[in-house]
Amino acid sequence: MRGPLSRRADRASASPTLAISSQAKALARNFGDVISLAAGEPDTPTPPHIVQAGIDALHRGATRYLPVAGLPDLRRAIADQSMMLRGWRPEADGEVLVTCGAKHALFHCFQVLLEAGDKVLLSDPAWVSYGPQIRLADGEPVKVASLASEGFYPRVEALEAAYDERCRALIINSPNNPTGLMAQPEQIEAITRWAAERGVWLISDEIYGRITFSDGPKMLSPVQVEGADLDRILVIDGVSKAYAMTGWRIG
Ligand SMILES: Cc1ncc(COP(=O)(O)O)c(C=O)c1O
Repeated sequence: MRGPLSRRADRASASPTLAISSQAKALARNFGDVISLAAGEPDTPTPPHIVQAGIDALHRGATRYLPVAGLPDLRRAIADQSMMLRGWRPEADGEVLVTCGAKHALFHCFQVLLEAGDKVLLSDPAWVSYGPQIRLADGEPVKVASLASEGFYPRVEALEAAYDERCRALIINSPNNPTGLMAQPEQIEAITRWAAERGVWLISDEIYGRITFSDGPKMLSPVQVEGADLDRILVIDGVSKAYAMTGWRIG
């Protein structure tokens, strides 16, 4: 494309994940046995009963426009599943929004929360797409220092040091991409209470929440924390990782 684009479009960068993925594919073509750790993509296919249910739905005529917030049955199922996973049932009709994947849900969050110059705090390292999405919404991503010994989840002191009146939101992602680490319950509790005290929106990206060891600890969500401000927490989740449905685009 040659013509001038908007300044906003110029600020968008190509997805580094996809760039590394195609580099890995090129290496695999030349060298054979290459394991790509770029895209978070399960190495199993979508389970056959899910594929079949999709085919059956298409044959039944589920090919038309839908309610903007998603199919009522799906929103109810999401609310039920959240109850199972987090012990918290959002209102299916009002608090659950179906999107074209978790990435799209995050895009919406930044678009609706941020005014130009608003800051969003991120742990460091963080998933590569948060920063560009925040910038596309005219916001400023601010990485908060954290220690390897603390699983790269920031302490309240570090959040407080990064905070100013332009700080509008904080993203946490546990279990985390890229580190693979899950926050300790006391870290989630401290971060959640800090966000509530500061009146900062807490965006909790829980896309990897169901990929945990069966004999290990389970994810704790901010919505489970006593003292959480449920009016300012956005839980991001989707089917891509848990059900190997990355191409179906449901968040
Ligand atoms: C941390 C994190 N959040 C969100 C997503 C996006 O998931 P989806 O496929 O539902 O858009 C990914 C995908 O890699 C991710 O790693």
